[in-house]
Formats: sequence, structure tokens, C-alpha cells
Amino acid sequence: MPPQDTSMLSDKAALYRDLAAQLGALIEGETDRIANAANLAALLYHGLPELNWAGFYFAQGDELVLGPFQGRPACVRIAWGNGVCGTAAARGESVLVPDVHDFPGHIACDPLSRSELVVPLIEGGRVTGVLDLDSPRRARFDAEDRAGCERLVDVFLGR
Ligand code: SME
Repeated sequence: MPPQDTSMLSDKAALYRDLAAQLGALIEGETDRIANAANLAALLYHGLPELNWAGFYFAQGDELVLGPFQGRPACVRIAWGNGVCGTAAARGESVLVPDVHDFPGHIACDPLSRSELVVPLIEGGRVTGVLDLDSPRRARFDAEDRAGCERLVDVFLGR
């Protein structure tokens, strides 16, 4: 059996470490939520391969409302519990969808999107929003992306 190529794994971990360091530098000393969210969306969209959308929805009452993002224009309001974003918000945990066609209730903002990763923003035990990443490639995201993005959200929230 040929030796297993694990280079992709370590590369991905290194990429997320690098992105976390860049994010720390970008938001250092800045407390404006919108400005920091805009910079994180741009950092991810340009720093991670094979994305067609990266951005935020913020909680407002029983809805999520579109925040800073990169990619095509997106739906503005998502009811709590709806779609991948609303599901992650309602559960208070990340949701990784290898193929959005297999996720009942997925909200198709961009028909190109094929896989999705949503990480909730949790502050003081409450979900205050979500970070949403979309890819045109099936199964683009794995457990390392989930862990890497959860770490980035921690940095974004000042943890
Ligand atoms: N697909 C998401 C909606 C947001 S867009 O992908 C930007 C969902 O099902 O919640």
C-alpha cells in the first residue's frame, strides 16, 4: 500500500492557524461588530479555496438578518429554525452539510451552492448570529473546516 498522503490535512490546519493570526491582527483594538464581521467575511472569501459565499447573519427577534458578506446578493431574512443557518442558530451548534440538495429546507440563495458550513455566534449562552460559508463543490467542508471556523468565530468574539 502506498504511504498515505496527509499533507492536505496539515496544510488545512496551518491555513486556519494563519487565518486566525490574520484575523487577530485585523480586529485588534477594534470593537465595531460590523467592521470586524466585514473583514472576517473578506478574509475567508479570499483566503479559503472554493467558496462562493462567506458572511454573517445576525439575530433580530425570531429572525436572522443578513450582515456583512462576500459573494452574490443573498436572502435578507431567515426565520429561526429555517434553512441551514436557522437550524444552526436554533441548535446553538455548527451544521455541516455535504450536499445541500439532501438538506430539507435548505434556502438556495445562490443556485451554485452545493455544500455549506454554518457556525453559530454564542455570547453569554445566547445565539447572536451565524457565520455561513458556501461552496460550489460537494463535500467541500470537513471536520477541520468546522474546527477552524469555530476557532475563527472565537477570535471574532474576543475569546
Ligand atoms: N443557504 C442558507 C441561506 C443563506 S445563503 O446560503 C447565503 C440556508 O439554507 O440557511
